[in-house]
Amino acid sequence: MDDLVNKLKIFHGKRVFLTGDTGFKGSWLALWLTEMGANVYGYALPPVRHDAHFNLLNLQEKIVHQEGDIRDLDKLSAFFHEARPEFVFHLAAQALVHKSYSNPKETFDTNVGGSVNLLECVRTSDTVNALVYITSDKCYNNKEWIWGYRENDELGGPDPYSASKAAAEQVFFAYSKSFFQSQTKFGYASVRAGNVIGGGDWSENRVVPDCVRALQHNQPIVLRKPQATRPWQHVLEPLSGYLTLAASLTRDPFKYSGSWNFGPSEHASRSVLEVASAIVNRWETGEIQIKSVDNGIHEAGLLRLNCDKANQSLGWHPRWNFERTIESTIDWYRAVLAGESAAKISCNQIKNYMDSVYD
Ligand SMILES: NC(=O)c1ccc[n+]([C@@H]2O[C@H](COP(=O)([O-])OP(=O)(O)OC[C@H]3O[C@@H](n4cnc5c(N)ncnc54)[C@H](O)[C@@H]3O)[C@@H](O)[C@H]2O)c1
Repeated sequence: MDDLVNKLKIFHGKRVFLTGDTGFKGSWLALWLTEMGANVYGYALPPVRHDAHFNLLNLQEKIVHQEGDIRDLDKLSAFFHEARPEFVFHLAAQALVHKSYSNPKETFDTNVGGSVNLLECVRTSDTVNALVYITSDKCYNNKEWIWGYRENDELGGPDPYSASKAAAEQVFFAYSKSFFQSQTKFGYASVRAGNVIGGGDWSENRVVPDCVRALQHNQPIVLRKPQATRPWQHVLEPLSGYLTLAASLTRDPFKYSGSWNFGPSEHASRSVLEVASAIVNRWETGEIQIKSVDNGIHEAGLLRLNCDKANQSLGWHPRWNFERTIESTIDWYRAVLAGESAAKISCNQIKNYMDSVYD
């Protein structure tokens, strides 16, 4: 048994600022932090659906939430400086590849300009001890090779979303070199995680929510690119990495500042078809249809992450294997769609995750 619970005690009573708390990952992170006794301040656009995880958890009542646009520096800055955070997690983004094709300008403005605004808040703060700045595994210039990308590999992206995340990394690098590295009591890290799944994601054009919607309505699951292979992981995996990293950044800013990958072990990557088949097995019924269409949208065929740095320097490892990841995800949807309390299920899953040993 490792000491994740002990490491996370650092958040008790701390002021933690989160952008993107109304989203899939942000709502899980906000819940986890409140469970750890942190005082959470969230800044994001309103949830996009009435049954968003943020609403199901009633987070509005559990944290200090400010609705706002990350592109609005004045509003963001006023809330940020009022919160006087010690920890900052930046997750707000236009996070969908498909939408980045229909709204490229909004994607760049939010993911690059919004990130600049957040970094401006951090740069002008005298309270922040640790910044965790979330980008994506898609920030790497993907050569579709079998090897996992390392933190020092080349950045770049052929679609607006990936390019915006690569650009957000460049912005982070410039702020690190120009402003942050001279501050000895402040740790800062950019983090790149793979495809994240788990209960509470209702986004369009993501494999798990698309499968759940089809199964819920007794319709066949239609896969566009069944052989595309990704580093799938449960949402609690990268979040545990971000939290562990934030705790380490305050302990030794010099050692831990930089960029970090968080993903499953390389043998755990699976194709879209394997994910959909595992979902159908857990749901116990369902049909899969393959309909390859060329919609002009670039989607990576193969993308892997090398996580040696997080494994070795941070002692972070995935805890849930692929089967447990699918089970936890599908059990969450089934229970919530059957009317059970999402707050109870999500809290239990966080507890079970912390009680688990490494995969
Ligand atoms: N989900 C994944 O598989 C995955 C994988 C890699 C990286 N990421 C990254 O993790 C982060 C969170 O992803 P997610 O899956 O939770 O996305 P999501 O779409 O569920 O949530 C996005 C959040 O950002 C907020 N947001 C979007 N535009 C905003 C704006 N203009 N102003 C203020 N807030 C805004 C939304 O309100 C929401 O709270 C993103 O940065 C995303 O790029 C996600």
